[in-house]
Amino acid sequence: MSDSALDRAFAAAPRAWFLPPAERRFAGLDRPLPIGHGQTNSQPTTVRHLLEHLDVRPGQRVLDVGCGSGWTTALLAHLVGPEGVVVGVEIVPELVELGRANLGRADAPNARIEAAEPGVLGHPGGAPYDRILVSAEAHDVPASLVEQLGEDGVLVVPVAGRLTVVRRSGPHAEPDVQWLGHYAFVPLLEPGGVEDPGGQ
Ligand SMILES: C[S@@+](CC[C@H](N)C(=O)[O-])C[C@H]1O[C@@H](n2cnc3c(N)ncnc32)[C@H](O)[C@@H]1O
Repeated sequence: MSDSALDRAFAAAPRAWFLPPAERRFAGLDRPLPIGHGQTNSQPTTVRHLLEHLDVRPGQRVLDVGCGSGWTTALLAHLVGPEGVVVGVEIVPELVELGRANLGRADAPNARIEAAEPGVLGHPGGAPYDRILVSAEAHDVPASLVEQLGEDGVLVVPVAGRLTVVRRSGPHAEPDVQWLGHYAFVPLLEPGGVEDPGGQ
């Protein structure tokens, strides 16, 4: 994915559109900003690093776990283009509504936001995905998300303070795990029910 593709996506989905009115004047600051319910719209340089490592291509099918304000979902929608599909998943019901409203103003007809199902991490109903982005920190690489990756799929997820890139070359191949730099994220919340989001 080129720098210019990322630049075009950031220009097409300005951060301010995804912030509560009182936070919009801070949109240019490189720090996380509150979106309510104890959650944040992520720091712009961090979002850019996540997207660089995700290496999204036009036409791909992408899952955005922890889509919050909908900003990353809209950025991904521009990166995959009209032939691609983006599914955002969010665990806080009020943020599902916020993200949908924000996305509705962002010219992203190829993207949608789903509420996280109890006991389910990600959105297995839409799998397999070419790319999965997680914007909240897990304790361990979530095996259930690795299972939702397709062949040559890439998962970018903060794990125990480190940005982590997982590549899956095929259904029977061991995933390749690369540990990168340290980042601070809000925790990946337990979706309730039977599944441990950070474990496995
Ligand atoms: C850093 S915040 C939002 C990031 C978002 N990409 C943005 O820029 O607005 C992470 C989000 O992950 C959500 N989240 C936490 N655990 C989750 C889970 N198990 N499933 C789905 N969303 C989750 C939080 O509610 C929060 O909205």
